Amino acid sequence: MTPFVYTLVEDPEGNHYRLPVFMTQTVIDSILAHFVVRDYDLFIVTYPRSGTTWMQQIVHLLANNGVQGNDHLEVHIPYLERAAAFKGISSLEQKEGRRYFKTHLPFTFGLHTRNLRTKFIYVARNPKDCALSLYYFMSNNYRIAYKGSWEEFLHLFIAGDLIYGKWSEHVMGWWHASREFDNILFLTYESIHRNLKGIISHVARFMETSVTPEVIDQIVRKTSFSEMVSNPKTNLSWAAWRKDASTQPLRKGCVGEWQPHFNPEQSSLFDAMCREMAAMNGPPFVFA
Ligand code: A3P
Repeated sequence: MTPFVYTLVEDPEGNHYRLPVFMTQTVIDSILAHFVVRDYDLFIVTYPRSGTTWMQQIVHLLANNGVQGNDHLEVHIPYLERAAAFKGISSLEQKEGRRYFKTHLPFTFGLHTRNLRTKFIYVARNPKDCALSLYYFMSNNYRIAYKGSWEEFLHLFIAGDLIYGKWSEHVMGWWHASREFDNILFLTYESIHRNLKGIISHVARFMETSVTPEVIDQIVRKTSFSEMVSNPKTNLSWAAWRKDASTQPLRKGCVGEWQPHFNPEQSSLFDAMCREMAAMNGPPFVFA
């Protein structure tokens, strides 16, 4: 028996994905059938636990000249599948001007091909740190309630039997598209860690937003891990999370935390997966 709760959903190509329970086929079909992607919309796309919130905060501050505002980040940049499930597609149509969304939908769901003027920022993360972060998330989220072992989790991750399908296919789908289309910016969590200021400036250029060097400096400060952890607009204990601090969305924010958690066999399975991706012209990851 699969050790967590999910719903099974089919993409337009007939591939099956396990998604959080509230994202039923009806919800996904409503996005596919009725959600109109506008020219100047911007999507932040990730496999879960790859730095989505971090990129949301960067984009939100760039879009608002460094000003945080009173609402939680998820109000400014809604989670498309969640908003479609709880508020309906029509709630997303009401906003005028450039809209910002986050989504975890794989490339095969066809969001990108709807409108080639829309911008997409894809963030990929070292799969070992991503898997560790996802393990904490899926174990602590009461709707998903993962109850299996760490060992089993890693096998489910590689096989693509967790949420949102195979990590490797998710990354490869968006990576190959980013090679072909200028409106997809492909970044890694590790590169943001290495060069936060440089990435913020890069994202600003991609968004075609001009901000002063002073505002860039403010954004660097407001997107640091320590600032985001203590900011209730970026690190709420959501209803879906238990209240204790160790299960907050922003947990450790490290590169290389996987090391004491993976034994050599587990690590080499992940290395083999990355080698396979490299052999298929995958992204040039430099993993810690
Ligand atoms: P950890 O669980 O390893 O701490 P997502 O937003 O896609 O769910 O990704 C969550 C991961 O991104 C968490 O990783 C979180 O701590 C990390 N993260 C969020 N903001 C960050 C920041 N400002 N700096 C570094 N890591 C950040």
